[in-house]
Amino acid sequence: MPDKSPVVIDLKFDRESVVAGLKNAFPGREIIDMALPENAGRDLSGSAYAVVWKPDPALFSRMPDLKVIFSGGAGVDHILTAYELPDVPIVRFVDRSLTDRMSEWVVLQCLMHLRRSLAYARQQKNHEWRELDPQPEACDVTVGVMGLGVLGQDAVRKLRVMGFEVVGWSRSMKSIEGVETFDEAGLDAFLARTDILVGLLPLTEETRGIYNTSLFAKLRQGGALEKPVFLNAGRGGSQVEADIVSALASGILGAVSLDVFEKEPLASESPLWAFENVIITPHAAASSDVRALFRHAERQMTRLEGGEALQHVVDRVAGY
Ligand SMILES: NC(=O)c1ccc[n+]([C@@H]2O[C@H](COP(=O)([O-])OP(=O)(O)OC[C@H]3O[C@@H](n4cnc5c(N)ncnc54)[C@H](OP(=O)(O)O)[C@@H]3O)[C@@H](O)[C@H]2O)c1
Repeated sequence: MPDKSPVVIDLKFDRESVVAGLKNAFPGREIIDMALPENAGRDLSGSAYAVVWKPDPALFSRMPDLKVIFSGGAGVDHILTAYELPDVPIVRFVDRSLTDRMSEWVVLQCLMHLRRSLAYARQQKNHEWRELDPQPEACDVTVGVMGLGVLGQDAVRKLRVMGFEVVGWSRSMKSIEGVETFDEAGLDAFLARTDILVGLLPLTEETRGIYNTSLFAKLRQGGALEKPVFLNAGRGGSQVEADIVSALASGILGAVSLDVFEKEPLASESPLWAFENVIITPHAAASSDVRALFRHAERQMTRLEGGEALQHVVDRVAGY
């Protein structure tokens, strides 16, 4: 095998951004872009790397010399659940651009609900000039972040800058300055403190369906926003949408922002579209920047070829 192994690309992303991203990517390496018809039946032996998002199911079995799989996104449930995988490391995408985008989404949604943007937008539509009371400050509101990984920890920091009280929950205990943290066993205590719940968990067997009626019922009622607000930008499989709808209808939840859904795209007949207090974004909170993805993959290939350890390797047992 040459020093610099070829890299196989199978990314079901917007095609234009992949083509633009591939220009000048992976210097000194052959790029085998599986979207090109001439590569359909090609012999892929000798290629050590695959950069993928929802790849062809047969891809990995066609790569006998595969050494590393690079996920095109931060989440790896798309690979772990749907494929028979060779025993090679899976590296997930971690990059400032993605992290910044996610924190922008989280802070924006928290501020939208804090500052009653949906109600003001309705008033504007009706040409209605009316100040809404009361007007709580960020420091009156506690945001509870579920998932204190790369994305959760950055969001926590930026929420703190905006003045929110922040608490956090993760599988193992974390220590974050200025933030009260809880581990798995502390879930109920964490929920009882939370006015705005932010879901930034990966989808695993443990987190599937975790955002359900019983969890919503444990959130703090009667806080500065009166009713709890739920945000999810982790994975849709972690939420029970029928429970979100009934929690909104019964008033257990006051408002919701969702970027991810059990089934995407969200069906046009979903009752979620019709709620005035629901914000829907189409899995757009933190899209992967393709150029940044290729730079990240190249950095990791260089590390491996230079005898260093790969970073951001997925723990297959934990599922993230
Ligand atoms: N909507 C979008 O556009 C978008 C974009 C990118 C990513 N995402 C989603 O965001 C997720 C999080 O990304 P990340 O980079 O922050 O992941 P990460 O660094 O792997 O962090 C995951 C966090 O979740 C916690 N966790 C996992 N399973 C848990 C469980 N059963 N109970 C309690 N905590 C648990 C982990 O706990 P420990 O710290 O104890 O391990 C960790 O704090 C991704 O998996 C992906 O699904 C969505």
